[in-house]
Amino acid sequence: MTAAISVAGIEKSFKDLHVLRGVDFEVERGSIFALLGSNGAGKTTLVRILATLLKADAGTATVNGYDVAIQPGDVRQSISLTGQFAAVDEVLSGRENLVLVAQLRHLKNPGEVADELLARFALSDAAARKASTYSGGMRRRLDIAMSLIGDPPIVFLDEPTTGLDPQARIEVWQTVRQLAAGGTTVLLTTQYLDEAEQLADRIAILHRGTIIQNGTLDELKELLPPAQVEYVEKQPTLEEVFLALVGDEKKEAA
Ligand SMILES: Nc1ncnc2c1ncn2[C@@H]1O[C@H](COP(=O)(O)OP(=O)(O)OP(=O)(O)O)[C@@H](O)[C@H]1O
Ligand SMILES: [Mg+2]
Repeated sequence: MTAAISVAGIEKSFKDLHVLRGVDFEVERGSIFALLGSNGAGKTTLVRILATLLKADAGTATVNGYDVAIQPGDVRQSISLTGQFAAVDEVLSGRENLVLVAQLRHLKNPGEVADELLARFALSDAAARKASTYSGGMRRRLDIAMSLIGDPPIVFLDEPTTGLDPQARIEVWQTVRQLAAGGTTVLLTTQYLDEAEQLADRIAILHRGTIIQNGTLDELKELLPPAQVEYVEKQPTLEEVFLALVGDEKKEAA
């Protein structure tokens, strides 16, 4: 079976700013793939290219077997994108938000679809409340639920937990795990190393325009030898691996 997402030699510049300088990776179907990178590394730019919202300058990418440049309509049918900022309508209730999206997607039974998703995301009790009264975690869950209407096989989550408190982050993580367990392919971007550590089957580090490492958590941890402290072996955290690979630029600049 082909990969859910396949990216080869993708380049993108904004005027003189060469953001993506040849990005390559593949995402297996039904897996969670985390794209890790600092602010401005080009994570959102890459996601926008894969979601057909932006054209690459060079390289090829396929999503669900469709070429993003040649078959953008088929790609859009195969994906959902939850952006860095929630797309929830504050004035509507949670249920109304979901029904609206289901109607826009021309589904036959918008009410049923909404109720099923509310139950799945533990929002049934809050279904009739305006989204403006939701906590950050509830809003993010509603946002993800909205993006799942129509059952896309591939889901892009751009920084799904930025700005959430620890409890809300754990709720979103559970949602993402459930999605993958149900066979959905998830590509998420994050700046949080523990998020990648918690969720991802594979982790790729985007730095200075290319993927400088791509592997499982264990493979990435093997890049640094465990420090010997008397008789106790200390495993490096993903954060230590990340900083060793990327360099501590704040310290370098100082
Ligand atoms: N439309 C645009 N026009 C000009 N520059 C852009 C545009 N979009 C992104 N950039 C620049 O490209 C670089 C990468 O931006 P991008 O949003 O992809 O980073 P990111 O990894 O998602 O960062 P963050 O973690 O802050 O979300 C940044 O320097 C940004 O200013
Ligand atoms: Mg971004």
